[in-house]
Amino acid sequence: MQQVSFYQEAFTSYLGDFTKKRQPESLYNPINYILKLGGKRLRPVLTLMAAEIFNGSYKTALNAALSIEMFHNFSLVHDDIMDDAPLRRGKETVHEKWDLNTGILSGDAMLILAYQLFETYDANTFQSLAKLFSKTALEVCEGQQFDVDFETRDDVSIPEYLKMIEYKTAVLVGAAMKMGAIVANASEEDQDIIYQFGRNLGIAFQLQDDYLDVFGDPKTFGKQVGGDIIENKKTFLYLKAVEFAKPEKKTELIHLFSLNTTEHAEKINTARQIFISSGSAEATQKEIENYTNKAFLVLEKLHVPNEKKLELITFGKELMSRKV
Ligand code: IPE
Ligand code: IPE
Ligand code: MG
Ligand code: MG
Ligand code: MG
Repeated sequence: MQQVSFYQEAFTSYLGDFTKKRQPESLYNPINYILKLGGKRLRPVLTLMAAEIFNGSYKTALNAALSIEMFHNFSLVHDDIMDDAPLRRGKETVHEKWDLNTGILSGDAMLILAYQLFETYDANTFQSLAKLFSKTALEVCEGQQFDVDFETRDDVSIPEYLKMIEYKTAVLVGAAMKMGAIVANASEEDQDIIYQFGRNLGIAFQLQDDYLDVFGDPKTFGKQVGGDIIENKKTFLYLKAVEFAKPEKKTELIHLFSLNTTEHAEKINTARQIFISSGSAEATQKEIENYTNKAFLVLEKLHVPNEKKLELITFGKELMSRKV
């Protein structure tokens, strides 16, 4: 096993070789733009790490890692259209920099490129990867649709929310790790265990994404802080605040999240205050910890030496304290 920064650099350099100029530029420039904007590279790093945890070489997992990052970036381009988001990784979103049609078609092309990368593997590996990918990608679409449907509902429950984030985010983190395990020929049991580790970590990750969307530092967060409040997203913060707040505040919050106001700053401030005063912000932090610990518990069943499990635990703990 290497340091996380090693896998990050190996991945970035591989990505650099992949993103060559291609025609038509109006299709490929936006693709290269979003891919090179950076980001944490969480999912591809997890793929490479998983491969090495099961005694494979990270090098054989590079195309799977690239596929996962390609799919992730595709989902971001379309997600930013759906969420009407102006900023991504501190820069203009694709549909803002170009236009809506460019965002749609470049996104579509990225989804196909993601699939195509599996062609570099032998038939058995290809089949396993493609099967996992198709299942996961469809779940992501389902999660994204739930997310949008919830914007206009006022009766979303916590279990519904958890299912939504499991689908839109966590299954891809699980799949990223399982792909590393597949490439390294890990046993099916271990493949499933590492998937469950990633899935729980992914739920914690999305809970924290929701938290940072409200409480992140606009200077470093890279996305529009308060975007979820503007869009009436029914996040854990919102749902717990509705559960915990005094009747008057609860009514105010529900009303606020039924409007499409242009008074963004005021709406964000009011919601933020209620998230804090109701105890929902604290409950969200606790839930992030709970799901991270669930992920760690899953690791106990994995058939690999303890020092490898410790690498994953360190990684998970660092994720918990992330600010971007
Ligand atoms: C953003 O993912 C979308 C979510 C699922 C929360 P990341 O926070 O991993 O985005 P980048 O790739 O680091 O920009
Ligand atoms: C994104 O959820 C999930 C996918 C892109 C599939 P969000 O909408 O919360 O992600 P951000 O906050 O825009 O990165
Ligand atoms: Mg979004
Ligand atoms: Mg979204
Ligand atoms: Mg978000």
